[in-house]
Amino acid sequence: MKTKEKWESGLGFVFAAAGSAVGLGNLWGFAYRSSEGGGLAFLILYVLIVLIVCLPVLVAEMVLGRSTASSPFIAPIKAAGENWKPLGWLFAIASCGILSYYAVIMGWTIDTFFHSLFIGLPSDMNEAGQFFGKISSGNSVFVGQIISLLLTAFIVLAGIRGGIEKLTKWAMPLLLVLLLLLAFWASSLSGSWEGYTSFLLKWDPSQLFDKSTISNSFKQAFFSLSLGIGVMVAYSSYLDKRNHLPKEALRVASLDTAVGLLAGLITFPIVMSFGLRDVVSESTVGTLFIALPTGFANLGLFGRFIAAVFFGLAFLAAITSSISLLEVPVSSLMDKLKWSRKKSVWVSTLLIFIIGIPSAISTDFLDRSDAICNTLLILGGLLISILFGWIVPNRYDEDLSNSNSNLRVRRYLKFMLRWVSPPIIAIGFYLTLVSTLEKFV
Ligand code: TRP
Repeated sequence: MKTKEKWESGLGFVFAAAGSAVGLGNLWGFAYRSSEGGGLAFLILYVLIVLIVCLPVLVAEMVLGRSTASSPFIAPIKAAGENWKPLGWLFAIASCGILSYYAVIMGWTIDTFFHSLFIGLPSDMNEAGQFFGKISSGNSVFVGQIISLLLTAFIVLAGIRGGIEKLTKWAMPLLLVLLLLLAFWASSLSGSWEGYTSFLLKWDPSQLFDKSTISNSFKQAFFSLSLGIGVMVAYSSYLDKRNHLPKEALRVASLDTAVGLLAGLITFPIVMSFGLRDVVSESTVGTLFIALPTGFANLGLFGRFIAAVFFGLAFLAAITSSISLLEVPVSSLMDKLKWSRKKSVWVSTLLIFIIGIPSAISTDFLDRSDAICNTLLILGGLLISILFGWIVPNRYDEDLSNSNSNLRVRRYLKFMLRWVSPPIIAIGFYLTLVSTLEKFV
């Protein structure tokens, strides 16, 4: 048997993992979820969930991948026996499910990018509605979806070092620079301060106990960190013992949160200074594809240039995420059925395209798929924390001590994973399940 591929460097792994985390979820989800009323309370809950609940689970996912050196489909069985087979299925189903609609949104992003460059953007709210109607329906959606899936497939086809690591190594730093520049520019807009204070910093303590704010924070934390469906398992299976997983998990989480915040610092000033407030909380896609293009259009030709930069970078962020989603079924097929990377990539891509057709046709369907997959993510996170907190805690400890992780850090993580993460995630899962079911009645 061929020896398994490895990351070229530890930093390469961090970039790839952060590339997976940073995506449309940061640019789009963060803004609209914090605008749904939560404001600062949402932000606080989100950061607490990431630090207290998600970090130990993120490390656990990495341990699951590294200690078994197996794909997400097989890893749970290797770690804890046949009883855990369903977790592998959950990983495979949820990752294909997410990618199926993620690729559709990537397609809208390409379309908006081309409109900014060559055609023009909507100048008022009336036109904005039509604009979104245009990019989210008809044949152009399929074109965008197919281009996105093909690009994703080509990169994953080139493998871990030759494709994923090569792309994320330059894409992530570029992304950060562009975001910083845009945030700086947005702060110079006339309504910028009002934008920060009426969304990100809006303080209403009762929101801390609001069911939908709590469930939004959970969804955002898990989705944004790419947690719960085996992406980190897949990436970590190509790691070796040298990496300090807790440190790397912390880096990934910090970068991801910083990008979410930066995106907010870009979005809200634009929304405020062009009076687009209502659009944002009205629809899930409102901020990114309705309010922003309209805001940019108000700045004339320069605005179109900035819009092209913004949507270009959004696409770049998205593709470093979509490749991680595709790697889950691909590595699983390679591992389980011993298929070649090539065959696994094309079969998975075709399947994901087909599952995504209803989302390409109906934004309502897309919205529901998103709700279902978010629920699955949190369930996945819950199961992973039970697996390492209760079923095979020694594996967690051994793997981390092999890489010389600090004893205190290890104890802390083990404690959190056993006593804190499971009950808190269970609450998040329950609230999210309820809000998902509400979408269907
Ligand atoms: N985290 C990415 C984003 O914020 C999306 C993503 C990639 C993802 N891989 C994932 C979400 C795995 C959940 C699980 O856009």
